[in-house]
Amino acid sequence: PLTRSLSMSSLSGLPLWEEEELPVENLLLFEVAWEVTNKVGGIYTVIQTKAKITVDEWGENLFMMGPYYEHNINTQVEKCEPSNPAIKKAMGALTENGCPVYFGRWLIEGSPYVILFDTKAAAWNVDRWKGDLWDTCGIGLPFHDIEANDSLIFGSMVAWFFKELTDQLGDSPNVLAHFHEWQAGAGLILCRSRKIPIASIFTTHATLLGRYLCAGNVDFYNNLDKFNIDQEAGERQIYHRYCLERAAAHCAHVFTTVSQITAVEATHMLHRKPDVVTPNGLNIRKFSAMHEFQNLHSTNKGRIQEFIRGHFYGHLDFNLQKTLFFFIAGRYEFSNKGADIFLESLSRLNYLLRVHKSDVTVVVFFIMPAKTNNYNIETLKGQAVRKQLWDTAHTVKEKFGTRLYEALLKGDLPDMNTILDRDDFTIMKRAIYATQRHSLPPVTTHNMLDDASDPILANIRRIGLFNARVDRVKIVFHPEFLSSASPLLPMDYEEFVRGCHLGVFPSYYEPWGYTPGECTVMGIPSVTTNLSGFGCFMEEHVSDPTAYGIYIVDRRFRSAEESCNQLTQFMFGFCQQSRRQRIIQRNRTERLSDLLDWRYLGRFYMHARSLALSRAFPEKFWMEPLAPPQTEGFRYPRPGSVPPSPSASVHSTPHHSDEEDGDEEELYDEDEEAKRDRQNIKAPFSLGPTPE
Ligand code: UDP
Ligand code: G6P
Ligand code: GLC
Repeated sequence: PLTRSLSMSSLSGLPLWEEEELPVENLLLFEVAWEVTNKVGGIYTVIQTKAKITVDEWGENLFMMGPYYEHNINTQVEKCEPSNPAIKKAMGALTENGCPVYFGRWLIEGSPYVILFDTKAAAWNVDRWKGDLWDTCGIGLPFHDIEANDSLIFGSMVAWFFKELTDQLGDSPNVLAHFHEWQAGAGLILCRSRKIPIASIFTTHATLLGRYLCAGNVDFYNNLDKFNIDQEAGERQIYHRYCLERAAAHCAHVFTTVSQITAVEATHMLHRKPDVVTPNGLNIRKFSAMHEFQNLHSTNKGRIQEFIRGHFYGHLDFNLQKTLFFFIAGRYEFSNKGADIFLESLSRLNYLLRVHKSDVTVVVFFIMPAKTNNYNIETLKGQAVRKQLWDTAHTVKEKFGTRLYEALLKGDLPDMNTILDRDDFTIMKRAIYATQRHSLPPVTTHNMLDDASDPILANIRRIGLFNARVDRVKIVFHPEFLSSASPLLPMDYEEFVRGCHLGVFPSYYEPWGYTPGECTVMGIPSVTTNLSGFGCFMEEHVSDPTAYGIYIVDRRFRSAEESCNQLTQFMFGFCQQSRRQRIIQRNRTERLSDLLDWRYLGRFYMHARSLALSRAFPEKFWMEPLAPPQTEGFRYPRPGSVPPSPSASVHSTPHHSDEEDGDEEELYDEDEEAKRDRQNIKAPFSLGPTPE
């Protein structure tokens, strides 16, 4: 029988799942997803961040399976030979039949083994495999849907591999396969219909219909039980994909999804209630120095400020010390990701800041990939001008320094009126002339292919936020994911997030939503909603989320207009905080990290695996009909000493004061608060009865 035990040892008082006594030496675990080594969105983050704890548990018996892309393998995978002879032989059977399969270690934390299937090279089989799928379950894939065709090729290869593997292994070790999202669904459907002896799990990270219906401005959550789902799927031309998704959900021994809200959605859209909810975690790395994340905020903010100096050259009439950086980031799903209400709220925020004559400026970044043809000239010029000013200042500084030094050597004080000569002034004047511009600082950093019909740009035109001098809210739309190799803003996404003040993710459709969670573990406050899995999870486990820097917009029970007002108020309130209050809030935000740690949330995956084994091989893996691990009953208390204003918290050991007037930073009290709060955290997640 499967037994488990629990240790109560993490710093925050949260229980850590220490022992999972699955006989992993007699099992092989496969995790199958289109995003293994292949980044598209959040599913990649799930697989990649979870790898470490899964490898810790399964060691050499864990294999991840994904599509083969040459570029990905060259940049992320170290090729090697499989040491397991059965795996090697199964791969060989495909490769010898013209369907190449590759093996290696994925160069991420935990370095899991990966098995990558070359779907392009195997595409010559697609018609036959379409026939097989049709004969098996009556699902037909249209010619033009390349993504669906690829997923069938991938699935057919995966099922073939499992057939070869289990033919060799018999029933020892047993095989457990965990499939993610509809793109991996075909593999699961084929394995089950061919009665290949594996235990199977299907996790959906969204439902296709949910995503499509929400994007179409439907009142989704109030009508969940009323949709004619077959008809809706047909009208949206995704009937075949929806069939794959629904069949996979029903074929799996265990069906899971990433949040309660998506569990309800799946119950209606796929007609199977998930057995387990597997919330998404992150691989939390703790810094040895307590306030390292604050320092990182400061240095990365400095790098964003440099970008701003270039981008807004000639218009830098706002105080960078009083400038806050907000951002939204993710796949470009305009209304699902809430970019619509964000823009509307920004226009209202701009109005409020102006009428209150606020000296705060907000620069808002939109990081959402769209079709472009490269950076635009004006944006590149901005950075060139900044660089030129820097070089000029540097040259003059050098000359100044040399002359000063020479004067001192002679025992004189330099004559300040002559220390710089006419040439020095000439190059400085020339540099200043170069900063004149006749247009406003651009809204986009790239040339958009769809400039006229792009929804973000269309809304910016409507609300008129064009980076004018009078506006307190400025916008920078960067229609590409960030990269440290960029000539414009050379930062990777993590560095950028750390340098910002607030992430704003007012999603309408968001099964989980990694972006605000990533902010949290970096100690950056964020806005989320009660329609996102993450937002609901935080609402459930944190007594006063706002005090911890998690602002949850109500998009469930309020109209869009009311949600906009609420979002505006959150942002306006944030702008009114002093530096000291922001520092305190960041400390609190970061304290929630433990709640999002895979070492903690990984338990739900473990439970799903045990359950699948007990259903697929009941004689071998008997399991007490356990309720899944519960998260109810646990809550982070309100912070012990909510300082309503900066003056209310005691200054004991101020170390230095910052440029922002009167905002002394002092972190000692916050550590005390953190300690107190940890002691107050009592109820750990309850586990239910422990099976013998
Ligand atoms: N992301 C990124 N670079 C960027 C912006 C976003 O790598 O410039 C990542 C981000 O870290 C997150 C993922 O994209 O892990 C988006 O996941 P989320 O769950 O928020 O949304 P999804 O795209 O899956 O709907
Ligand atoms: C961190 C740094 C401080 C800095 C502060 C700026 O806390 O440790 O040195 O003053 O960030 O905070 P702000 O919210 O103004 O960017
Ligand atoms: C999906 C969802 C997103 C979730 C991610 C990982 O892409 O859109 O909300 O965070 O999967 O589960």
